[in-house]
Amino acid sequence: MLVLGIESSCDETGVALVDASGQGVPALLAHALHSQIDMHQAYGGVVPELASRDHIRRVLPLISEVLGQAQRSLADVDVVAYTRGPGLAGALLVGAGVACSLAAALGKPVMGVHHLEGHLLSPFLSSDPPQFSFVALLVSGGHTQLMRVDRVGSYELLGETIDDAAGEAFDKSAKLLGLPYPGGPHLAKLGQGGNAQAFKLPRPLLHSGDLDFSFSGLKTAVLTQAKKLGDPMDEQARADLAASTQAAIVEVLVKKSLKALEQTGLTRLVVAGGVGANALLREQLNAAGAKKGIRVHYPEMHLCTDNGAMIALAAGMRLQAGLESLQRGYTFDVKPRWGLAEITA
Ligand code: KG4
Ligand code: ZN
Repeated sequence: MLVLGIESSCDETGVALVDASGQGVPALLAHALHSQIDMHQAYGGVVPELASRDHIRRVLPLISEVLGQAQRSLADVDVVAYTRGPGLAGALLVGAGVACSLAAALGKPVMGVHHLEGHLLSPFLSSDPPQFSFVALLVSGGHTQLMRVDRVGSYELLGETIDDAAGEAFDKSAKLLGLPYPGGPHLAKLGQGGNAQAFKLPRPLLHSGDLDFSFSGLKTAVLTQAKKLGDPMDEQARADLAASTQAAIVEVLVKKSLKALEQTGLTRLVVAGGVGANALLREQLNAAGAKKGIRVHYPEMHLCTDNGAMIALAAGMRLQAGLESLQRGYTFDVKPRWGLAEITA
């Protein structure tokens, strides 16, 4: 059972082929990615119309590349999967349109996949895959959620951000420090040479007693500090502010994840989404986990940010779990806003 997966929800065009035969974790046969970061950087963020147009240019060559890598042809593909949402409407429509036309031409079934389900199952492709049940910390540019996951298709929302996402907090703070888009990795790098205690920044909702997050106040605090430092900013102070910002975001993510584990009584944590690539977050979660007997699982570094592998994987795992009846209907819609709870079986 070969599943071709297409991701186009934001600024990465990703394509992958997995083999979901049998009941084992689907095997990743090949994947290819084109990141639009360079194109959007000039604008300081993703320009939706440019994103859609670039997906159109990239998707077919990427499909050829993946099939070439796997030494397979289109005729070998059994199911075509695509990201149905959430994401940018125009960008999603490109992946959905290409997937449905391709499947129609091949006479094969097509399947729309939830982007966040892809992220949270992505650690199953790592060399240290998790076992159910686990708590998932989903931290991307658009989402910050804690979920209880008992099996494929069973997602219980435990808490989420009431305003900005963790990735957004990284990106907006980075912008205030004059760093390019997407700011998360740049801010982390700048912070390496800084003192994380130099600035006292807020840890919103840290002691709220629930599992919700709030990051919009942090950005305001960073803005206030940045203004005080003036322009041009002293280089050491800039690094200190980057380190302090990262420490504030990471501390909240770590403490709330531990609280979720405590509340559910689970001992496995899965971290997924772009911010899951953050080294300080990994270091602190690993250290806390080692102390408390908690196993922490991550996607491979290159599968933390958006990619086609997680979409093909999620489609394959849903098929294996019997959650999908394969359709040969090729009308489609996309769901720019789509909660994971809506697909909970
Ligand atoms: O999952 P993703 O690729 O796209 C969304 O679905 O949003 O996540 C992108 C986010 C961006 O906000 C980016 O700044 C952040 O992940 N990110 C990081 C790191 N690498 C990516 N944030 C902090 N540290 C990193 N190393
Ligand atoms: Zn994503």
